[in-house]
Amino acid sequence: MSLHEPPKLTGCGLYPTPLHRLDRLSGELGRDIYVKRDDLTGMGFSGNKLRKLQYLVRDALDKGCTTLLTFGGVQSNHARQTAAVAARYGLKCVLIANLKQDRPPERLSGNLLLDAILGCEVVFMDCMPILRAAGDKTPDQIEEQTAALRRQVADMVIAEREAAGEKVYEIPAGGSTPLGCMGYFYAVKEIMDQLDRQGQKVDYLVCPSGSKGTFAGLWLGAKYFGAPFTVVGACVSPHDESYREKVCDLIGELAAFCGLEVSVRPEELHICCSEYAGPAYDTPDDDTFAVIRRLARTEGLFVDPCYSGKGFAALLGLIENGTIPPGAGVLFIHTGGLPGLYSAQHLEKFDRDLWQGREHRVITLPAP
Ligand SMILES: Cc1ncc(COP(=O)(O)O)c(C=O)c1O
Repeated sequence: MSLHEPPKLTGCGLYPTPLHRLDRLSGELGRDIYVKRDDLTGMGFSGNKLRKLQYLVRDALDKGCTTLLTFGGVQSNHARQTAAVAARYGLKCVLIANLKQDRPPERLSGNLLLDAILGCEVVFMDCMPILRAAGDKTPDQIEEQTAALRRQVADMVIAEREAAGEKVYEIPAGGSTPLGCMGYFYAVKEIMDQLDRQGQKVDYLVCPSGSKGTFAGLWLGAKYFGAPFTVVGACVSPHDESYREKVCDLIGELAAFCGLEVSVRPEELHICCSEYAGPAYDTPDDDTFAVIRRLARTEGLFVDPCYSGKGFAALLGLIENGTIPPGAGVLFIHTGGLPGLYSAQHLEKFDRDLWQGREHRVITLPAP
């Protein structure tokens, strides 16, 4: 099977990102634990979305588009990276952000602050009418209604922009189209070359999973390039088994896009659908916060409360329950998300846990 790589931007991040061993943690846990530093992709505060945007924004430019329109939560890492790439290539950027509270945040924090600095226009999509009428609707039904609302709002924004002479390129939440997924498909080759050069071996690769594109790209890339590791995904919000079916659909679309004949069944995928996801999206439990502190205090490495903290909690859980056995090698894909550490909601929690109510030592000496 040989493949033709779609055209991509060459100035959209710095590759290869570093891959290194976490020595102290490996010693503590009796496994070789490595991390692939996609929190250092090198542009707009970094993160996994830059790999997808290399292909998507190149496509936008090739089509003569002038505005990138994307979607996500108010604290979307994907939107912040899209806004950064837009700036770098002279495009405008609009984020349609799900508003799940009565009014927009009063203060800037985390990714929203970076969006504002980048000059991204944020349009809030009021989700409250749907949430107030949710009653006993299932999460899938609520998602369906939200998707319909998103379509309406997007069409309004596109019409306004087109009337102003703009040509709009739409990027779905997370950039998880088959074209976007090529970023992590080819990241597998980068990882295999690095492991080879560095004389390292891994049996498992663990990544957080949200809109599914990172996992789908890694899974198909591992299959295509004959990687010696099993790709494991960790959902960042709780899902039932239907999540695996949706991932299979995306892998199928990606394979068709690449012209590969690959079929996959849900039971073949290694995905932790709910165990490490905490109660909800961007709502970490105490375990996630404990993992954030543990990694910082053993390795000087930061992970975030929404994605990489939950992903790393999964890696530790799989070690603890023996799925990743003693002596095995495991690579964590650090997908970034670090501005989330400074989002208003999480700052409040860190403040409570690590600062308020503590005695602060102040040394005052007379001026010499
Ligand atoms: C920091 C971070 N990690 C992981 C993910 C999940 O990647 P995907 O949406 O491709 O599943 C995201 C998605 O927004 C993210 O921002």
